[in-house]
Amino acid sequence: MGDSNSKIPPSSIFYPVSTPAHEIDVVAFFVVMICGAIFVIVGGLLTYSIVRFRPRPGEDDREPPQVYGSNPIEFAWTTVPVIIVFVLMLITARTIFTVQAATRPPGAISVHVIAHQWWWEFRYPDLGVVTANELHVPLSDPQNPTPTFLDLESADVAHSFWVQRLAGKTDVIPNKKNEMWIEPHELGTYLGQCGEYCGTEHALMLIRVIVEPRADFDKWVAAQKQPPNVDASVVHGRQVFESTACVNCHTIQGTSANGRFGPDLTHLMARVTIGSGAAMNTPDNLKVWVTDPSVMKPGALMPAMNLGDKDLNDLVAYLATLH
Ligand code: CUA
Repeated sequence: MGDSNSKIPPSSIFYPVSTPAHEIDVVAFFVVMICGAIFVIVGGLLTYSIVRFRPRPGEDDREPPQVYGSNPIEFAWTTVPVIIVFVLMLITARTIFTVQAATRPPGAISVHVIAHQWWWEFRYPDLGVVTANELHVPLSDPQNPTPTFLDLESADVAHSFWVQRLAGKTDVIPNKKNEMWIEPHELGTYLGQCGEYCGTEHALMLIRVIVEPRADFDKWVAAQKQPPNVDASVVHGRQVFESTACVNCHTIQGTSANGRFGPDLTHLMARVTIGSGAAMNTPDNLKVWVTDPSVMKPGALMPAMNLGDKDLNDLVAYLATLH
């Protein structure tokens, strides 16, 4: 998906494109290799002994010689596992330190992530941008790293932020701020998913991370900071929006709507999907969504608006101008 190699899935733990995900991949591979080698050696010796020393017809049933208290054998089977465990511990500790103790370099982007049932709010405090479900970050150049640091908080229950190709999973817990960071080295759109069961629509609490060249990211930020489009042809649609329950949950800059319960819609059409990845963001899907979100996302907390045809069409025409 927008990736240099389209055969690689946009969400896979096996193709890391970001520093923390890469570190985790290396340590996981190393542990699996060591454990695999132990499995092959132990399984091989066991199989060999079973075959080589099986009872054969004509043998007497005397016991084989019993070995007790052999210091060399006991020394070997104590020290070797201790050394292996110690090596695993050291490499794991090193990875944990690299991932968790990273400091924010001057060029780092900060994003405040707020998990909601069942969508993601992304706020860029230094850039003055608020959006939802689709996180834009700049590509990080190893010579001049621009990682993105995420502070994660929950507005309701426990969630977990997981974009497999960018970093490990980080739980998002009510009344606690967790931190994580990503440092993507490849352009593309990476898909992620809430990784902690959080209620009916846990499965449709999807994440998109758009990694773009710095210039495109700056353009996106500039567009997000623009006041919303004011289009005289959709005045009635805007009136419908402002006179219904929409305003209690959603924000559109420059209108009376300043709710925080649902996603900020100021630049709705800059997003590819609606409903936290439940459907593509097209006028037809918006009509279905506004009429009754539970058609696309059963259990969604947004109520069915059930507007008349004219109001619905005008409202969606207005929403479609929010670039
Ligand atoms: Cu949010 Cu599962």
